[in-house]
Amino acid sequence: SRPLGVPAAGLVLLVGVSGSGKSTFAARHFTPTEVVSSDTCRALVADDAEDQSATPDAFDLLQHLVGIRLRRGLLTVVDATNVQPDARAQLVALARGHDLLVDAIVLKVPARVAVDRHRASGRTFGRTPVERIVERHDRDLRRSLRGLRREGFRRVHVLDGVEEVEAATVVRER
Ligand code: GTP
Ligand code: MG
Repeated sequence: SRPLGVPAAGLVLLVGVSGSGKSTFAARHFTPTEVVSSDTCRALVADDAEDQSATPDAFDLLQHLVGIRLRRGLLTVVDATNVQPDARAQLVALARGHDLLVDAIVLKVPARVAVDRHRASGRTFGRTPVERIVERHDRDLRRSLRGLRREGFRRVHVLDGVEEVEAATVVRER
């Protein structure tokens, strides 16, 4: 299959439910410093990974980091679920504010696969059952997919299923 073209100096949003493989994909196709992850930002502002009150500060830090990297002309990949329109809109606006292109890469993996992966790895989300988290993300993602191409992205790459995610390659376009 054709490589996914992303802007060499610009923004890339990974979009997918928890467990869809965003962090794995990011580590495979981008350098560690190119990737800004919501989990890392959360860890930097909260000593307790399950402290929900840290979420706004974590996203504040993420936006700030992304903004600085874009101002410096560095390719930046946002590793967060990005299934909510508000989260995407803020990041698209940030890129446009720097006159830079922004692409989306959607990892469309069945909710059941994501849940099974979490179960296999023993990952938990406090007291909330993993199914509930993934199902909420999946519902948000489905709602998002219809209008995604009208949100200001240069390109929306949709990887439909685990095979397409695993086979994907990325090329930086100048
Ligand atoms: P959150 O950070 O919770 O949003 O999840 P994520 O989308 O970053 O998923 P992550 O990359 O952490 O992958 C979740 C689990 O699925 C891990 O145990 C990975 O090893 C596994 N996994 C990720 N990508 C793939 C893939 O392409 N194929 C297979 N077989 N397993 C994968
Ligand atoms: Mg992750």
